Amino acid sequence: MNRIQVIQGIINRKNFTFYMEIGIFRCKTFIQVRCKKKIGVDPSYSLSLYKRIRWYLSNLTNFSNMFFKETSDVFFNKRKQLLEQRPIDIAFVDGKHTHEQSLKDVLNVLKYLRDDGVIIMHDSNPSSKAHATKAKSWEEAESLEVEGWTGSWCGDVWKTAVYLRVNRKDLNVFVLNTDSGLSIITRKSAYNYLDEDEQISLSGIEIEKLNYSDLESNRKSFLNLKEINYFQTFLDKLKV
Ligand SMILES: C[S@@+](CC[C@H](N)C(=O)[O-])C[C@H]1O[C@@H](n2cnc3c(N)ncnc32)[C@H](O)[C@@H]1O
Repeated sequence: MNRIQVIQGIINRKNFTFYMEIGIFRCKTFIQVRCKKKIGVDPSYSLSLYKRIRWYLSNLTNFSNMFFKETSDVFFNKRKQLLEQRPIDIAFVDGKHTHEQSLKDVLNVLKYLRDDGVIIMHDSNPSSKAHATKAKSWEEAESLEVEGWTGSWCGDVWKTAVYLRVNRKDLNVFVLNTDSGLSIITRKSAYNYLDEDEQISLSGIEIEKLNYSDLESNRKSFLNLKEINYFQTFLDKLKV
């Protein structure tokens, strides 16, 4: 099960009609997701004519897409009016792969997310130290020539999942162990009964001081990591 199936599963279960994606790159996920209204934000996305024709014809929801060629910070600063028109139902956060920016993106989305909305944050469970290289971009991560580099890169986005678990008791946060780790974030006020995560004492953890070996030794508790078969349990619990 990959990110597209997870996103689509939630959209279908909740009958969501407004999807936002931060970091759309070549639009692989963005154009395959089926949702009535979709907003894509990325300062340097591309969408080839071939893909545009092929995917638009096979997924008609694409005709109402809105693209914003700008960073998420610029978007949230400039587009308040658009965002205030209607709340976001579901957001996929997959922009700059740093803890700082992914946290900022999640917090900004939360301002405009409907009460029972869902945020999915990609790259939350790096599988190796190289995969978790701290850098500002993929190019910078590659240039560091770290041992074990394969070209696949999550950065330190995982720290945002830990940060939210430690500091935001108003949120349910778990990470699905698939597709480099998908954090699923919802509000407890809407889904109180989902609060199953073991509250292993994460309090007092200084996120900035954590490194990859800390994650390796505490992966399950830090991330509230769930295997993919938990996804159906999660869907069953979402109110329609
Ligand atoms: C891993 S790619 C996204 C992949 C895409 N979500 C998918 O599933 O196919 C990351 C993208 O984030 C974009 N990005 C980097 N910094 C960003 C920012 N501050 N705001 C929005 N997008 C950003 C990059 O341009 C890049 O295209």
